[in-house]
Amino acid sequence: MNVERILALLTLIVSCVRARMDAYMTAIECPNYLPELVTNLSCHLDRSSQSNGTFSVNLTLAKDVKDIKGTYIFSIKRGSTINNYTAIEMDYCQALSSLQSNFLLKMIADELRRSANFPLQCPFKMKKLYYINRYTINPKMIPSYAPELNFKSDCLISLNKRKALRLIIHGRVVRRRSSR
Ligand SMILES: *[C@@H]1O[C@H](CO)[C@@H](O)[C@H](O)[C@H]1NC(C)=O
Ligand SMILES: *[C@@H]1O[C@H](CO)[C@@H](O)[C@H](O)[C@H]1NC(C)=O
Ligand SMILES: *[C@@H]1O[C@H](CO)[C@@H](O)[C@H](O)[C@H]1NC(C)=O
Ligand SMILES: *[C@@H]1O[C@H](CO)[C@@H](O)[C@H](O)[C@H]1NC(C)=O
Repeated sequence: MNVERILALLTLIVSCVRARMDAYMTAIECPNYLPELVTNLSCHLDRSSQSNGTFSVNLTLAKDVKDIKGTYIFSIKRGSTINNYTAIEMDYCQALSSLQSNFLLKMIADELRRSANFPLQCPFKMKKLYYINRYTINPKMIPSYAPELNFKSDCLISLNKRKALRLIIHGRVVRRRSSR
C-alpha cells in the first residue's frame, strides 16, 4: 500500500481545489468475473441534467464476504497520451470501519454513505441487495488547473481473494462555460 504517494497526490489535488471545472461521466461498465459469488451485478449511468450525472450499482452475493480488497487506477488521457494518475491498493473492510481523515477519501466515503447501503463494517451479507444509488461526482475533486481531458476510473475488486468484479467509469473534464 503506497500511502505516501496517495497522500502526496491527494494533497496536490486538494490544494488546487476550485470548482471551475465540470466533470461528466460518459460511460460505465461493471464486468462480473465471479458470477457464482456475485449473483447479481448491474450498473447504470444517469446522464440527465436533472441528476447532474450520477451512477447507480446493484449487487447481490451468494455468500457472506468479509475479505474485500481492490486496486484503484485513475488514468487520464490527453491527446494520445495515457497517464496512470494513481494506483491504490485498498482494503475495503478496513476502509469501511475506519474514519477517513484525508479530505478526498472522506469526501468519497461521505458520498458513499449518502448514496449506498453498505454496512459500517464487514461482512457483506449473502442474498442482501446492496446498492449505490445516484452517486454524484463532486466537482471539488477536480483541480482547477486541469486541462480538458478524458479520464477513466477503474476499480478492480477481489472478494475472498478471488478476482470478482470491476467498476469502470469513463468521463470527461471540461472548463465550465460561464452561465451569464
Ligand atoms: C437477482 O435480481 C433479480 C431481479 O431483481 C431477482 O429476481 C433475483 O432473485 C436476484 N438473484 C439473487 C441471487 O439475488
Ligand atoms: C437496482 O434495483 C432496483 C430495485 O430492484 C431498481 O429499481 C434499480 O433500477 C436497479 N438499479 C440498477 C443500477 O440496476
Ligand atoms: C444539479 O446542479 C444544480 C446547479 O449546481 C443544483 O442546483 C441542483 O440541485 C443539482 N441537482 C441535483 C439533483 O443534485
Ligand atoms: C496503466 O495501467 C494499466 C492497467 O490498468 C496498464 O496496462 C498500463 O500499462 C499502465 N500504463 C502506464 C503508462 O503505466
